[in-house]
Order: sequence, then C-alpha cells, then structure tokens
Amino acid sequence: MNKLRVLTGITTTGTPHLGNYVGAIKPAIAASQDENKLGFYFLADLHALIKCHEPEKVHQSTKEIAATWLALGLNTEDNVFYRQSDVPEISELSWILSCMAAKGLMNRAHAYKAAVDKNLEEGEDPDKAVTMGLYSYPVLMAADILMFNAQHVPVGKDQIQHVEMARDIAARFNHHFGETFALPEAIVDSQVETLVGLDGRKMSKSYNNTIPLFLPEKQLRKHINKILTNLLEPGEPKDPDSSAVFQIWQAFADEEKTAWMRQQFVEGIAWGEAKKQLFELINAEIKDARERYNALMEEPGIIENALQQGAEKARAHSAELMGRIRRSVGIYPL
Ligand code: TRP
Repeated sequence: MNKLRVLTGITTTGTPHLGNYVGAIKPAIAASQDENKLGFYFLADLHALIKCHEPEKVHQSTKEIAATWLALGLNTEDNVFYRQSDVPEISELSWILSCMAAKGLMNRAHAYKAAVDKNLEEGEDPDKAVTMGLYSYPVLMAADILMFNAQHVPVGKDQIQHVEMARDIAARFNHHFGETFALPEAIVDSQVETLVGLDGRKMSKSYNNTIPLFLPEKQLRKHINKILTNLLEPGEPKDPDSSAVFQIWQAFADEEKTAWMRQQFVEGIAWGEAKKQLFELINAEIKDARERYNALMEEPGIIENALQQGAEKARAHSAELMGRIRRSVGIYPL
C-alpha cells in the first residue's frame, strides 16, 4: 500500500517555544508514529536566509530545532528527517519551477505584498529591501513540497496560500510536461491549538512574548510567573476564559484537569498558585525530553549524524524524481 505523504518544513531562525510545541511539533511527532503516513520533516535553512543574515543565528537555530525534534521522539526510523540544504535537488527544482511559475502569481504572495505595502505606507520605493529570495520564497517552498510528491502539508493559516501556489505550479508543470507531481493540499487542523503568549496575544517570536520550550527549570518557572494576569486577590473568583494562564493550562491538560482548574478559578485560586500548578504541569510533560535535548546539544555530532542519514533517505527520493524531471524538460545526456 502507498502511504500518505505528509511534509512539513521549519524555518531555522529561532529557538523553539511552547507555541511551536503545541501548534506544530507535538502533532507532527504524533503523526510520525502513524503507520499509514510517510512523513518528510525538514529544517528549512535555505528559507532562513530570506529573513536572517546572521550566520551564527541560522546555524544555532538549526542545531536547536533538530535537537528539539529528536529529543521529543520524532520517529526517524519510518520517516525522513533532513536539512533542506543537504538535498541539492531542491535548489535545482526551484529554478526549474521558477521557469513555470507566473510572475503575476508571485506578485500576489502575502509576504512580498506585505513588504511592498509597508514601503508604500512609509513613502519609500515599493521594492526597498525586497530581495529576490523574498520574492521567490513560494517557488522554493513549492520545490520543497513537490520534490517529495507530498500530498498533505500541515501548516498554519498564514501558509495556505503558499501551498496553493505550489499546487498551481505543479498543475502547470504537469499540463505542459506530462504527469509528474502530486497536487499537494494544505491541511489546517482546527483542533490544533494556537497558544497565547505572556501578554495574552498569540505566542509568537514577532511579539516577543514567548516561553522557550527547553529553558532550565528555574527559568521556566520565572517565565511562567511573567504571564499577564489582573489584580484580583486570592479568594476572588477569576474568569478562566479571559486568562492566559488558564488558556495555556488548557493546551497541556487533559479534560479532567481542565475542568478541575476551571473550578479552581471560580473558587478564587491565587494567581501565584495557578502559575505554580501550571509550571508543574508543563514541566512534567517536557522534563525528560529536556534532558535528552541538553545531551544532544552537548554532542552535536549525534544530531549531524541523524541529519546525514535523513539526507541520504531524502536523496533516494529526490534523485530519482529529479532524473525524470530533467528528462521531461529536455536536460539529459546526448
Ligand atoms: N515557509 C514555512 C514557514 O515559515 C516553512 C516551510 C518552508 C515549509 N518550506 C515548507 C512549510 C514546505 C511546509 C512545506 O512556516
């Protein structure tokens, strides 16, 4: 039986935080245990260069993200875990696809449009600081997806458009050169939680309100103590549904524990106590993984090894398909 091909990329520009964990990493790791699926999970380091020109950051983030996924138990035995830049066929395909992608389509890409709109608002040249990398971002992403004939691409809402562009480009290629690519579909799981951050807005690096996933225990406690609350005293009833503490609790607790905490709020639990409980809950869930994470960070050779093995598996797929693509477009030995 052919397994369903699922693919996800993570841009290597930051340190994984609790929001990434709840919204993307945890569901992906669960899916990696599903025998009916073949997962492609990769570190999008070429994408990182679009928004980050600090080599140390890109390198460190690659290490941290890889260590995080491995420490949390990604099933790399039955799936493919690799670094984008280790698969040169992706870059090659990106060029070939860019010759099939309409410029007009790229003009409509959100990330590029947002940059142009901002420039116009500020009275600047519309293309100020817009690189070709930013402009072609959706083509590289299409290459990531199509290179492995991925059918399902789990993404956040902001990425739906990019997956649709990949689908468009694939259809155009297939139409012109013959059936080559599966048409990918964006999967946006409404069950998957968007975590709120320290200030009650969505937890996101751009809001500077994150709690890094594998902070040392003491620091984790400190960060949790910084979650925004109001001035209600111990004993005064508190509204769980407008509380960031409760919402984060909910993302980690099962139904029973959620109901219990809801009751504690009604009964006027002190903020300090609620936060202490929240720390215990989160810490219990990630404690063992944090130890594995720290061990891996001390021994990057082990991470590198896992990535090299993943690249080999990935290239078995990409080299085969690339051979066919080259032939389709007329690039092959005389
Ligand atoms: N652009 C995605 C993001 O920033 C990451 C990414 C790169 C990706 N290539 C991908 C996601 C391919 C899914 C499929 O979130």
